[in-house]
Amino acid sequence: MDIKESFLITLGDMRKIIKDFHREMEKGLSGRKSSLGMIPAYAARPTGSEKGSFIALDLGGTNFRVIEVELKGGGKSRILGVKNFTLNKNIITGSGERLFLFLASRVNDFIKSEAQGSGRRRELGFTFSFPVNQTGIASGTLVKWTKGFRAKGVEGADVVKLLNEALAKKGLGNIKVAALVNDTVGTLAARSYSDRACDVGVIIGTGTNACCAERPRTSGADEMIINIEWGNFNKLRRNSYDKELDRRSENPSHQVLEKMVSGMYLGGLAGLVLGAGSFSSRHMSEIESDVSRGLSRVGAIAGRLGIRAATPMERRFIKEVCCLISTRASRISAAALAAVVTKIDPKLSRRHTVAIDGSVYEKHPHFAKRMKLALREIFGSKASGIRIVLTKDGSGKGAAIIAAAAASKIWRHHDYKSESDRHAGEVAGE
Ligand code: BGC
Repeated sequence: MDIKESFLITLGDMRKIIKDFHREMEKGLSGRKSSLGMIPAYAARPTGSEKGSFIALDLGGTNFRVIEVELKGGGKSRILGVKNFTLNKNIITGSGERLFLFLASRVNDFIKSEAQGSGRRRELGFTFSFPVNQTGIASGTLVKWTKGFRAKGVEGADVVKLLNEALAKKGLGNIKVAALVNDTVGTLAARSYSDRACDVGVIIGTGTNACCAERPRTSGADEMIINIEWGNFNKLRRNSYDKELDRRSENPSHQVLEKMVSGMYLGGLAGLVLGAGSFSSRHMSEIESDVSRGLSRVGAIAGRLGIRAATPMERRFIKEVCCLISTRASRISAAALAAVVTKIDPKLSRRHTVAIDGSVYEKHPHFAKRMKLALREIFGSKASGIRIVLTKDGSGKGAAIIAAAAASKIWRHHDYKSESDRHAGEVAGE
């Protein structure tokens, strides 16, 4: 099979993905074995009336951030402060305790430098963008690390407990995790705070995943957001490069869709085809942006990576390989999204906003456009009922929003008797 054919996703393939996706979703929802997690988020979409100021800790990859958000109600919010931090390899592959103490220290730095009213009770939204078996709005155990994380002692443990303990050890017993949120759920919540049509959240960045708001089937039942964990979907045809990439990965046979779609792996696939070790997804974006006649940029990047690109034909080939791999990624994403939307609305009888974020979707020069074109191939003119909206940095803000909705419930569960709290109580006249 030639390279082109091995990366091709036809309309027929997309239809098959949709069918298989539906089947896996059903299995996951009914508790049967499935490659899709279908994990309840123990939260519904916000109403837009949530108010107050909340802290969010957003951990999804080697960069993480702490933010403070003021929710004003009426769908309006304001970011009061943001601090970005980087986690080095030692921390993400060392002990879990060290990782969580590091996170708590950075919350401490943030509180000292940015957040107002330190010392008083604060609720924190914890965006933890890994597959978690959520057991409540503020509890859940890590199923398996993804995206190169390996910190020991975290898989199988309650990550909210780990963070609360680390916060307490750092003298921040006044801050409690009110909500544990996946980044897709945060992104959905951030957009739906002001857009009622938003019912799907998607991330296509270092990793990939989606969530959707399940409408209650029986009247009176509550809506629930479901974290699909679509990165693990495994009903996809893999070629020899996919298999090789999987063998060399930290989590062989897991995250099959993620390894064909997300930024952590796209460059690696191109590297395997072209025989270049350090190919990254950013190189791919740069190569596919080169529209110069002599493909000079392609030549320069290839030169740096040690790939032969002397002749125009060699340069065109390199660009073509990148294009095949990223086009496949965009078409698999479109099919998966089509499956999610038709799961919640089989006939596309209403409008849907899809809140999306992530470096691949945002920064790759053609990804978003190709994904939308593929949706058009699948749905024809009905595709116009699906509005895909870039929702930048929604994951943290959304966690704050969900924390706001959950906040009233958490303090009862904690034995909280610090000086600062009693003081805050007196001031508030409790
Ligand atoms: C994780 C998801 C996450 C996604 C996007 C995946 O590797 O399993 O939980 O939502 O990356 O960050």
